[in-house]
Amino acid sequence: MPPQFNTRPAHLPLGERQNSRFYGQHIVSVKQFSRLDIEHIFTIAEEMRIMVERVGTFDLLKGKVLANLFYEPSTRTSSSFTAAMERLGGSVIPISEVKYSSVSKGESLPDTIRTLQSYADVIVLRHHEKGAAEIAAKYARKPVINAGDGPGEHPTQALLDLFTIREELGRIDGLTVTMLGDLKYGRTVHSLAKLLALFNVTVNYVSPDILRMPAELVDELDGRGLSQSQFSALEAVLPKTDVLYVTRVQKERFDDLALYESVKGAFVITPETLKIAKQKMIVMHPLPRVGEISMDVDDDPRAAYFRQMEYGMYVRMALLAMVLGKA
Ligand code: NCD
Repeated sequence: MPPQFNTRPAHLPLGERQNSRFYGQHIVSVKQFSRLDIEHIFTIAEEMRIMVERVGTFDLLKGKVLANLFYEPSTRTSSSFTAAMERLGGSVIPISEVKYSSVSKGESLPDTIRTLQSYADVIVLRHHEKGAAEIAAKYARKPVINAGDGPGEHPTQALLDLFTIREELGRIDGLTVTMLGDLKYGRTVHSLAKLLALFNVTVNYVSPDILRMPAELVDELDGRGLSQSQFSALEAVLPKTDVLYVTRVQKERFDDLALYESVKGAFVITPETLKIAKQKMIVMHPLPRVGEISMDVDDDPRAAYFRQMEYGMYVRMALLAMVLGKA
């Protein structure tokens, strides 16, 4: 049975803002969000930014506990959720090395989730299997936030990506977004493309042949009216691009490492590459980068990938406050 995204678990304490959007809900897929929801999340993220700039840390989630459960490596997602929770006055149970937890003794995901929800009010989960967040949500009485399920989705990243675009370029409608790199296994582009389908944008996919956007996803988004085109060379689309979204080839998803080696360096952005790009455009990357963007690009004002990380914390603060009924 699929998780009941819109059902508030009955046990959640009274006295919180139960009518607030997303109170007590799991965040598993970007498909849960409407344009109005996105506007709402962004408004709260803006408020979070102002509060962090003014006071640094405040007590909105004082007494609340987040369990950060990571079965796959992470720097930004894990630490930005921790920072988000701590800046809101809450605390964090960090399980970022599952090999030191009972997972290495063979504990199942449902049992690990049952355990953590006995101690925490919200669970952030990253897992190597597509669909893992949905399974966790099925067993959880507390909100589960998907922080990446294998090559599936990464909804909080897509929200922060969209927030970055809006903050940097002032709008989303009317833009041309070019996604580059590993579009087959990259969960960030899967979620971002789905979210962009809510807007009036043009999306270009540029990748090696074997790393194209999955056909089922392209078909689904076609059905939702998203304007999409596939290319094998970046030069064809770069001059018209407003957002160049670069991704890492996801080495950990390849069974055949020789195949990975054959595509890993297919696209590298350098200052030379950007000569044909607009002056008012941005280069994004969910990070980590492993050579897809040369370090000489970092000082270009169009390089938005480090600013993108910071926006992530405000968006995650907003989401935590919302699912815990405090926004
Ligand atoms: C991405 C991920 O884990 O999907 N990183 C992130 O969350 N910022 C991208 C990647 O690992 O390539």
